[in-house]
Amino acid sequence: MATQEPTTDSILAALAAVPGPDGRTPLPRSGALSEIVVHKGKVYFSIQVDAARAAGLEPLRLAAENAARAVPGVSGAIVSLTGESASAPPAGGGRQPGPRAQAATTKAGVPGVRHIIAVASGKGGVGKSTTAANLALALARLGRKVGILDADIYGPSLPKLFAVADRKPDAVDGRTLKPIEALGVRLMSIGFLVDQEAAMIWRGPMVMSALRQMLHEVAWGDLDVLVVDMPPGTGDAQLTMAQTVPLSGAVIVSTPQDLALIDARRGVAMFEQVAVPVLGVVENMSYFICPHCGERSDIFGHGGARDEALRRGVPFLGEIALDMTIRATSDAGNPVVASSPDGPHAAAYLAIARRVAEGLEAAQRPPPRIVIER
Ligand SMILES: Nc1ncnc2c1ncn2[C@@H]1O[C@H](COP(=O)(O)OP(=O)(O)O)[C@@H](O)[C@H]1O
Ligand SMILES: [Mg+2]
Repeated sequence: MATQEPTTDSILAALAAVPGPDGRTPLPRSGALSEIVVHKGKVYFSIQVDAARAAGLEPLRLAAENAARAVPGVSGAIVSLTGESASAPPAGGGRQPGPRAQAATTKAGVPGVRHIIAVASGKGGVGKSTTAANLALALARLGRKVGILDADIYGPSLPKLFAVADRKPDAVDGRTLKPIEALGVRLMSIGFLVDQEAAMIWRGPMVMSALRQMLHEVAWGDLDVLVVDMPPGTGDAQLTMAQTVPLSGAVIVSTPQDLALIDARRGVAMFEQVAVPVLGVVENMSYFICPHCGERSDIFGHGGARDEALRRGVPFLGEIALDMTIRATSDAGNPVVASSPDGPHAAAYLAIARRVAEGLEAAQRPPPRIVIER
């Protein structure tokens, strides 16, 4: 039944006809070609170029992509340019990026999208996706045009949260995909594009290729905010994303437990390293309301995230209760902000969304001028 998987050698042979970044040396011998990954007929690789020349080398990227696509058995190819750059840190960032951040990538903005925000966590299972989904819905309730991008390569969960897991995005033309509309927001997930098995073993260049496709080959249209559900943790894949996506800011989700807080601290540090403003910290599963007696208990020692945020000079965005309703509504594909818009949880998410919106506006304003009076 299945057609034969194309070999890496057959891709290399096809790429030999494409001149590399210097315009002469065949791409495979140019030293610019990354490892080539072939999985279920899809081909992924990247080409390392001088960041300053990246825009001019788009024809090279396209030529390489077309050459790979023409190989028999290839159903699709995703090629990205990665830029080595020894240039100064991005404007606005006070501190020097660390050594890993120096392999800066070119961050092209997404036309029509005003702000892209990352929802991140130091580790998995703290409620990052739950927060991303409800924050997106709350921003929509505030009148914003909202998109949500599921970039969690380790466990894309937004299709389930929005009850669209059995749908596939339509293509607008040969390349561009239409985001899926659900509950008033536009959604795209890495889960629609590649199977998870493949994504788990990805390295930086492949992650970047997929992200690039989800940002630039999706017809997002006009958006006020695009919320990105990031992969958990602070490893290379996460750093790559923080560098690849032109982020206006990041929201860090933490639980009150100490361990999660240590991880959250790493998350804050990672965004600071790449000069992305941290909009604040959300404390999830902050306290527990007994469904029987209504009594509140701070089972995890509530308030830890707030204290830590304040200590680090990072805004505290709010706390969300540990409540079965939040879990059940998510499981049912109708998160609590949409299913109980007038309930206490929706109110908590709305308050967080307001602070996020304010943080975005503030980040956009020029810094106040300091006038020295004598
Ligand atoms: N505040 C909450 N109250 C109850 N359950 C929650 C809450 N936040 C998340 N959950 C549940 O915890 C699990 C993990 O949450 P999820 O958002 O998928 O975490 P992550 O994306 O960080 O891995 C899910 O089953 C989710 O429904
Ligand atoms: Mg998740």
